[in-house]
Amino acid sequence: MALDYSKKVMDHFMNPRNVGEIENADGVGEAGNPKCGDIMKIYLKVNPDTKVIEDVKFKTFGCASAIASSSMATELIKGRTINEAWDLTNSAVAEALDGLPPIKMHCSVLAEEAIHTALNDYRKKNGMKEIPMEHHED
Ligand code: FES
Repeated sequence: MALDYSKKVMDHFMNPRNVGEIENADGVGEAGNPKCGDIMKIYLKVNPDTKVIEDVKFKTFGCASAIASSSMATELIKGRTINEAWDLTNSAVAEALDGLPPIKMHCSVLAEEAIHTALNDYRKKNGMKEIPMEHHED
């Protein structure tokens, strides 16, 4: 049976925003889900003075929901400070997509984790304390 995806999920899956890599990125993060084998990589360009994320790109080898979640997540953190970006939760990503089927919620977790890993990579490179990662079930 086909899953019921929202129009927004389909749109971000068919036309994902911010796909690619940033050369000499200020922070790079990767997250993977061992169960489905999907992998997501996030690249950040951060303004050193304002700490605003000026550019963000992603590469996702994964399902439609993972691609839509990464696309939406990059849109949501672009132009935000690194602290604001940290507070982006997977449920906020799913909500911005007008919902994900329940069995696909873990795909949005991948986006949150990849962003957190990239932000911590940035923090580490800039002598800031890393923030402990929250562990999600699934
Ligand atoms: Fe694994 Fe979507 S099925 S990220």
